Amino acid sequence: MKSSKKRAFPSHVGIIMDGNGRWAVTRKKPRTFGHREGLNTAKRIVKHASYLQIPYITLYAFSTENWKRTKDEVGFLMDLIRLHLKKEMQFYIDNQIRVVHTGNPHGLSKAILNEIQTVVNATSGFTGTTVNLAINYGGRDEIVRSVQRIVEAGVINELSETLISAYLDQHGFPDPDLIIRTGGDCRLSNFLLWQSAYSEIFISDKFWPDWTEADLDAALDSYCGRVRKFGGVL
Ligand code: IPE
Ligand code: IPE
Ligand code: MG
Repeated sequence: MKSSKKRAFPSHVGIIMDGNGRWAVTRKKPRTFGHREGLNTAKRIVKHASYLQIPYITLYAFSTENWKRTKDEVGFLMDLIRLHLKKEMQFYIDNQIRVVHTGNPHGLSKAILNEIQTVVNATSGFTGTTVNLAINYGGRDEIVRSVQRIVEAGVINELSETLISAYLDQHGFPDPDLIIRTGGDCRLSNFLLWQSAYSEIFISDKFWPDWTEADLDAALDSYCGRVRKFGGVL
């Protein structure tokens, strides 16, 4: 963390935690083994982001498209997320981390929604890093839900970019300054489509389970060295 101290840190980092399956397959293990290890990485990275006082971090844990996977893999992922939330409440409390959820509650089981709500409620007063868990999340789905809320609120006549932003799942969050994708693929896969209009993108070839604190530092260093123009001229 030498040079990244020099310039402003991002206020919001989004992470597409990809490569769990390939990580496991290269070790001749089932894909689920990679998901379990990926969760350990997520904890490590959240702790480091909190240490670095990054205000917001959004973790892509399960997309609206991930239901296409086998029943076994989906079931495993849902259980993993639910048990993590159940067991790791103290981790969030110890680190003064506020947990929130983005994504479509429809389609998620009552059991997982209950665990999400319990952690969200227990951590709502914390002012450290906010961890936004993207579970059953799709960027297009979120935009549609925003517009639905606008219609329900009877303010469709006032439709504007500001209004759509205000009715997203986590209104009031800054847009992600930096989006990191591990696993080497150069795509967004339906992540934060509205909010990523001017995000800087960092692709890491490493699979997510191999990611370390030093990799986050390197991504932040890269971000801090970039020139952001937002369509203007410097
Ligand atoms: C990301 O890892 C985790 C989820 C999508 C839940 P993958 O499971 O997509 O791993 P790869 O991309 O197949 O290696
Ligand atoms: C994106 O990864 C979703 C998550 C990391 C949760 P995917 O592995 O689902 O994305 P694609 O299928 O390679 O685009
Ligand atoms: Mg993948």
